[in-house]
Amino acid sequence: MYEIKKAAVIGAGTMGLGIAGQLANAGIDVLLLDIPAEGENRNANGERAIERLLDANQPGLTHKDNLARITIGNVEDDLGKLQDVDWIAEAIVERLALKKSLYRQIDAVRKPGSIVSSNTSTIPISLLVEDMPLEFRAEFAITHFFNPVRFMRLLEIVRGEDTRDAVIDCLEAFNEARMGKGIVVCNDTPGFLGNRVGVFAIQTALHAAFRMGLKPEEADAIFGRPMGIPKTGVFGLYDLIGIDLMSDVAKSLISILPADDVFHAVSAEIPVMQRMISEGYLGNKSKKGGFYRTPDASDPNRRETLDFDSFTYRDFNSSKPDLAVEAEAAGDFTLLLQGDDKFSQYAWEILSNTLCYAASLVPEVNESLVSVDDAMKLGYNWIQGPMEMIDAIGVDRFIGRLEREGRAVPAFVKIAAGKSFYRVESGRLQYLLASGQYTDLERGAGVTRFSEQRRTLKPLQENAVASYFDLPSGLGLVEFHSKANTLDGASMSLLQDAVAHASENLKGLIIHNDAAHFSCGVNLDAVLAFIQASDWTGLDGFLDHFQQTVLAMRYAPIPVVAAPSGLSLGGGFEVVLHTDKVIFHANSVTGLVESLVGVVPGGGGVKEMLYRWAEREGDVTKGAWQAFMNVGYGKTARSPLEAEPLAMFRPGVDSYVMNRDRLLDTAIAAALEMSADYSVERRAGLAMPGREVWQEMIAWLEKAHAKGHLTPHDVTTGTQVAMIVTGGDVDGGTVMTENEICALERKAFLSLAKTAETRARIEHMLNHGSPLRN
Ligand code: NAI
Repeated sequence: MYEIKKAAVIGAGTMGLGIAGQLANAGIDVLLLDIPAEGENRNANGERAIERLLDANQPGLTHKDNLARITIGNVEDDLGKLQDVDWIAEAIVERLALKKSLYRQIDAVRKPGSIVSSNTSTIPISLLVEDMPLEFRAEFAITHFFNPVRFMRLLEIVRGEDTRDAVIDCLEAFNEARMGKGIVVCNDTPGFLGNRVGVFAIQTALHAAFRMGLKPEEADAIFGRPMGIPKTGVFGLYDLIGIDLMSDVAKSLISILPADDVFHAVSAEIPVMQRMISEGYLGNKSKKGGFYRTPDASDPNRRETLDFDSFTYRDFNSSKPDLAVEAEAAGDFTLLLQGDDKFSQYAWEILSNTLCYAASLVPEVNESLVSVDDAMKLGYNWIQGPMEMIDAIGVDRFIGRLEREGRAVPAFVKIAAGKSFYRVESGRLQYLLASGQYTDLERGAGVTRFSEQRRTLKPLQENAVASYFDLPSGLGLVEFHSKANTLDGASMSLLQDAVAHASENLKGLIIHNDAAHFSCGVNLDAVLAFIQASDWTGLDGFLDHFQQTVLAMRYAPIPVVAAPSGLSLGGGFEVVLHTDKVIFHANSVTGLVESLVGVVPGGGGVKEMLYRWAEREGDVTKGAWQAFMNVGYGKTARSPLEAEPLAMFRPGVDSYVMNRDRLLDTAIAAALEMSADYSVERRAGLAMPGREVWQEMIAWLEKAHAKGHLTPHDVTTGTQVAMIVTGGDVDGGTVMTENEICALERKAFLSLAKTAETRARIEHMLNHGSPLRN
């Protein structure tokens, strides 16, 4: 009965803009209204605002052309246009009176059967619609998106007392599949779920740090990656959001919570922070800085920390507690709890309080522990949700420690005593209900998270960095799981074995994982070790192994489908490039970025780009120039739509989904369909452009260098890329096989690896996580 084909967003601020952008990304025409501006151009507010969607640092659009789907207007002149739309999403300022008055205006013009929703963070739905007629209330809900809308996966949906089931069903279905969101349906309780637990965790970490006298970098070294949460930590997050703004968020949440909520224990204002706000130390947005600052914009790696006693900045102390380093490396936050120093105490203080708080919300605030876990994973980017974390600690150990400390154990945790919140029973993942019974975790048709499914499977083969499974569908699946999913010899050995096994026994192979990033490239530590030992034979063998593995995968007698999300860079993207079909996520980032660390792609990547461009251009020389420019500049695409013109996405072959939870099922369906009559032919060699074109490319590099556009090392790297795509010192028209082009890649890689510049670039990347630019 309800269907969303056209939408309107009211309020072109941070959130309204984000929602409108994502609707445009979903292929929906959107009307975006704000208040009229003074002066001649009454739509100036909206027009200025939408430029922010093109922000280079955080683009709200998957492609700039999507902007054409957004029509700007204002709430005085264009309100009548609302009669054409199926969903009106309100995202104006958080003021009840303004929202109420807007709803009356909307109701006068909207068509029956249209849905209206609010993005409010704090106002109960009962208040929002208290003055509205039943028919409006029946078609009204809260849709609470997270910022930035394109990238944050969580959408909390709150139904009112009178909201029709069909309205909720429509909002859920549309926002899951088209807007790409993980939906958590929440009751009408303060802060819903994500902010209630998320802001509580942040406030707990903040207060505990001040109480225990921890320095900002000490606290952030614990409350960050080692704990399985984003690296900004607590002080870094306050700086990022703005110390004044973040304090207001906490205050407004606290103001709506019941008086007996334990949140109040972490609500007192902190004198140092009051002083910071009054003196203008507001975080990254203010000139003075915040808890941290970067005194010299040209040197982002140099940071300073505010000393609370003297109120002056001192050098940032980058040394981290051993425990934090170990926990992060092992991807196991429970290691943090095993020491008895102040850092371990701090970790326990945060975790025990936060996990208890989260558990105390089940079942009153939400019946399902999965909703609580999802809210934190999708809305706050935690690797594990609170109940998953208690399981990881061990429910009984968690209870034991609370009891030894004389602390209350939440009722829902007591129910789990002797058990766990999640379990696998008869091959199915189940979770605990407040009744003490377990029920199957079902995600809905077309939606599978491999991180959940893998718990029900036993790998056919696994090592420290990768695993190989056979799925119930009769397909194999290779999962990378090293840190940042970097690839080394062991990843390739497993992939090679999986290809061989699946070719014999299964219908196809999927390459997928449910981590933040599919793969950030080849493990540079491994490459650096060869360089440091001047082990050129070893390095050549490493590259050859990589190339032969991806070639074996490409020519396997079964379809191979990659389903990457997050980053697929360098070697990670070379794996993707060798598959038959790729199911991308709408935000997948792809690129061969090797030139940024002073090398060339050495895993068949240059070869694949050359083949693709030669085919697109219908001419090897033109294709060679394209491959040369794209690989040389290390171009990346931040979406499949941006990847298409860079030949990293094949129209008609590859596809993409809006929701990353749909990657796996879509890939499975594609592989099964292809397996029905799959055959593969070895590609013919390429008639290479040869030495003359190579010289032209070198001349181009030298000219660009003379103009100051390229560094001397860029010229060195570019010369090697040019050598590969032209065939180097050979006659034009010399035919080379894929293996011969691969050999050129290795030759180029090795020649660069022997230079001091490349070594310095790799070391810089490993030490700073960013390329050296000079
Ligand atoms: P904002 O202040 O960035 O933008 C509000 C926009 O609404 C402004 O462009 C303003 O001109 C416009 N506006 C005000 N009154 C209007 C009216 N009567 N008609 C049309 N436009 C009007 O606010 P922001 O941050 O985008 O928040 C919007 C809503 O989303 C609020 O309810 C807020 O609580 C909620 N929210 C905010 C989040 C955030 O991270 N900023 C996250 C989740 C929810």
